[in-house]
Amino acid sequence: MDGNGRWARRRGLPRTAGHTEGEENLAALVRVAVTRDVGWLTVFGFSTENWVRPRTEVRHILGLHKKLFGRVAELNELNVRIEWMGRPFDSPDARTPKYVQQAIRKAIHDTRQNTGMVLTVAFDYGSRAELVHAADQARRAGETISEQTISQHLYVPDLPPVDVLVRTSGELRISNFMLWQIVGARVYFTDRPWPEFDAAELDRALALVRR
Ligand code: IPE
Ligand code: MG
Repeated sequence: MDGNGRWARRRGLPRTAGHTEGEENLAALVRVAVTRDVGWLTVFGFSTENWVRPRTEVRHILGLHKKLFGRVAELNELNVRIEWMGRPFDSPDARTPKYVQQAIRKAIHDTRQNTGMVLTVAFDYGSRAELVHAADQARRAGETISEQTISQHLYVPDLPPVDVLVRTSGELRISNFMLWQIVGARVYFTDRPWPEFDAAELDRALALVRR
C-alpha cells in the first residue's frame, strides 16, 4: 500500500494525513473486494524495514494498525476473517509493541468464525525473515528442507499462492513482499497512490486473472 506520503504531500498535508487516508481506503476497499468475491486479500501494512522512519510517523502508523485491527464489527458484518503475518511476537528481533499485539490477537479471535474473505495484514513483515523462519522451524522439527516443508512453515501456511500482486504509486518493484508466494503471480502496477486505489483499480487488477 505505497504512496500515502506522496498523496499527502501533493495536497500540502503532513505524511501522517496520508497514512490516515490510506487506512480509510483499506476499509473501503475491503468492502469492494467482498462484493467482487475475492477469497484472500493480503496487504502490506508495515515492513521489517519501516522501523527506521521518524518516530512520530511510526507511532502514527502503529495507531492506525490498532484502529484497523479494531474494525471487528465491520469485518463481522462482512463475514471477513482477519489474519496477520509478521515476525512472531516472541522472536528476539520482533518489534511489534504490546498494544498492537493485543489488537491483533483480539481481531483474529473475534473474527475467527467468519467464513468469507480472509484479510491478512502483514505487519512487521519481511519475506526474507519469513523464509528464514520457515527453514528454521523445519530444521527444528527435524524435517528435510523441501518446497513442501518450507510452505508448511510460512507465517500463514494456509494462504494460497498469490494470483495477482498489486504495487501502487508508480513503484516498479516488489520490496521483500511474499517472495515465495508470488512465484506465479500476475503483477499489476499502477501510478495511483494507495489512498486513490479504488474499485475501478481493483477491477483492473482482477481482470489480469479473471479473463
Ligand atoms: C505507504 O506509504 C505506507 C507505509 C509504507 C507504511 P509511504 O509512506 O511509503 O508513502 P510514500 O512512498 O512516501 O509516498
Ligand atoms: Mg513508500
